[in-house]
Amino acid sequence: MWPDRRLLDLFKIELPIVQAPMAGALDAELVIAAAQAGALGSLPCALLSVDKAREQMNIIRQRVSVPINMNFFCHQAVDADPRREAGWKQRLAPYYKELGIDPLAPFNAANRAPFDAAMCALIEELEPEIVSFHFGLPDRALLARVKAAGCIVMSSATIVKEAIWLEENGADIIIAQGAEAGGHRGMFLTDDIAGQPGTFALVPQVVDAVKVPVIAAGGIADGRGIAAAFALGAAGVQIGSAYLRCPESGVSVPARAALAQAGDASTVITNVMTGRPARGVANRAMREVGPISADAPAFPHAATALAPLKAAAEKLGRVDFTNLWAGQAVGLGCEMPAAELTRALAGSALARLAQMAG
Ligand SMILES: Cc1cc2nc3c(=O)[nH]c(=O)nc-3n(C[C@H](O)[C@H](O)[C@H](O)COP(=O)(O)O)c2cc1C
Repeated sequence: MWPDRRLLDLFKIELPIVQAPMAGALDAELVIAAAQAGALGSLPCALLSVDKAREQMNIIRQRVSVPINMNFFCHQAVDADPRREAGWKQRLAPYYKELGIDPLAPFNAANRAPFDAAMCALIEELEPEIVSFHFGLPDRALLARVKAAGCIVMSSATIVKEAIWLEENGADIIIAQGAEAGGHRGMFLTDDIAGQPGTFALVPQVVDAVKVPVIAAGGIADGRGIAAAFALGAAGVQIGSAYLRCPESGVSVPARAALAQAGDASTVITNVMTGRPARGVANRAMREVGPISADAPAFPHAATALAPLKAAAEKLGRVDFTNLWAGQAVGLGCEMPAAELTRALAGSALARLAQMAG
């Protein structure tokens, strides 16, 4: 029934749909629901400790016995630069004052660590069927260990050059992430945000450039988008934003309300929330401090000084400092349990494909 069976055969799942890993926005519950409905459930581990990632995987394994994807960031870690941090706090000082927060109070550093030897040991212990990376691939020795554990490796490319690099360096599957996508751009060979192609332009050019299967990501939120991805030569889709309003997601109540109101022109690409460009629904911080600011410390350190602001504003029911990561098709999303949504996505895609064939 599906025009391309490569992912179904490789992953041994029912639907060519990857529920996108979304760090900070979902945990085991949503992964389980998507997996039970036949998609590839993806556990985002970028914000988790080794123990927490193990705990989450144990919960998933107890509830479903289908292949699962564990997802990690693999950026080059840079130390926080005290001078930049001080300048950033200065830039945010009026907000601290407004919300009555002591700028000298100690607070936790942002915690997005790249994939390392300890996480790699966890992969060897848990042997997830699939491991996906964002921001390139880990170093050769770590990647060799992931592959020796039997995992299929995927990573995101935002331009053709990155897709070719990923294939040459061991990725088994490329996720072509178009500019429409919510969350961080997976870019690692370029930092040119203005040049990032959209999904419609990127997918066929990546398909032409590599031999491995390509998964389309970015702006796909219903059956029409899935059918279009197949027409462009993709072997499947990775869908993020459409899952954000599922009751199983970890999105806070005020953020949920902001997402429900968002439309096609509500999102921007910003570096102010973490130091790395990501797409989200524009909020006060993105508008007033950015959306792009040269003052933002390097990833992930920009997030450190924003954390107390986010917490204080959310207590007041405001999302002024919340990472409202979401893509340009966020307006197509609806409030629906994740398993039901997964089945609806697949059903409407098949109906659309049949209609187009017939
Ligand atoms: C809230 C949110 C968080 C995300 N976090 C991650 C992540 O932790 N790892 C990752 O590989 N991609 C992450 N992404 C990007 C998705 O994998 C995917 O590329 C994107 O959601 C596709 O576009 P869409 O949101 O239009 O469906 C995130 C996206 C969103 C919306």
